[in-house]
Amino acid sequence: TTPLRLGIAGLGTVGAGVLKIVAEHAALLKARTGRDISISAVSARSRTKERGVDLTPFAWEDDPVALAKRDDVDLFIELMGGSDGPAKAATEAALALGKPVVTANKAMLALHGQALAELAEANDAALRFEAAVAGGIPCVKALTEGLAGNAITRVSGVMNGTCNYILTRMESSGLPYDEVFKEADALGYLEADPTLDVGGIDAGHKLAILSAIAFGTQVDFDGVQLQGIERVSIDDIHRARDMGYRIKLLGEARRTSAGIEQSMRPTLVPADSPLGQLEGGTNMVVIEGDAVGQIVMRGAGAGEGPTASAVMADVCDIARGLNIAPFGQPAATLTPAMRANAATHCAY
Ligand code: NAP
Ligand code: HSE
Repeated sequence: TTPLRLGIAGLGTVGAGVLKIVAEHAALLKARTGRDISISAVSARSRTKERGVDLTPFAWEDDPVALAKRDDVDLFIELMGGSDGPAKAATEAALALGKPVVTANKAMLALHGQALAELAEANDAALRFEAAVAGGIPCVKALTEGLAGNAITRVSGVMNGTCNYILTRMESSGLPYDEVFKEADALGYLEADPTLDVGGIDAGHKLAILSAIAFGTQVDFDGVQLQGIERVSIDDIHRARDMGYRIKLLGEARRTSAGIEQSMRPTLVPADSPLGQLEGGTNMVVIEGDAVGQIVMRGAGAGEGPTASAVMADVCDIARGLNIAPFGQPAATLTPAMRANAATHCAY
């Protein structure tokens, strides 16, 4: 059988996790895919940074685009982040050559998903992004594969672990938002640009991706009604608790007769509901289909192991020869999302 040689651009939290799984699970990956999966070449900003992993077996490229184009790279893995710049350039370079791409980059997909899907399909190349939404929770595959026989009516959930950590920690400690924000920063939970987390943008990116798959529409991040958690006060949290509710940064996408509603905002959820019991950095994705009913998936939405787990699921699919359209159906058949206003309400 033909080996599958990976090129990995980005050796941070997620990249390091992927290196470890490839090294530790070589036999398991071969048993499951029938192929030897190995790493040919890697790229990051700094060649000398100490990463706790031995990079000497791999070729090094300073330029991620050059990495994507290497003859000894069969599958390009983009783990640098950023909606544009090198991440997009290298992804496009790989796809243009007909090479499959796996990425965890929700910002890039939320803003350029349609164009990238078209490029992938034009070159008969797979583009997979399980890790981009809710880390280790396989919600992209649930929608594109496991629930493919359903008309999806609603996708909702908590999709940013940092915000859930901040909200639950405010409640348990009684500390105000600013203090808990500083704690989250010290623990390394926040994105380099924290507005992505606390402004709801990161979670909005994820919701827009799921919504596109669920409803067969083009990714419409601008259509997400967004509100972050910056203005949630400790008083809000206590009042909600007194009434039997908790405040969650809740995303919801629905198809209604008026169009597609997408919202990501602080929402009251009953304290005794599955969403109300979600603690710390955990994520929850709830999908409703006409045949299956409701599916609830809960797990780690971030971190080295969980996110690398999702990346490797995509790598295994590609090794097995699966090439499902990135958003579950051909890009040309995704319709513009007709926006409908999502009324504020109390979830569940
Ligand atoms: P990270 O720890 O900040 O690592 C980013 C890596 O990309 C670093 O190794 C960095 O190099 C490299 N890089 C950045 N710009 C580059 C450039 N111009 N050329 C070459 N390499 C470059 O990020 P991460 O947390 O692993 O996240 C990676 C991706 O996964 C992002 O899209 C993120 O949104 C997504 N994601 C992350 C998580 C998570 O839990 N962390 C979960 C889901 C999705 P240096 O190391 O030399 O600086
Ligand atoms: N900042 C994100 C979160 C990382 O807190 O959920 C995972 O996408």
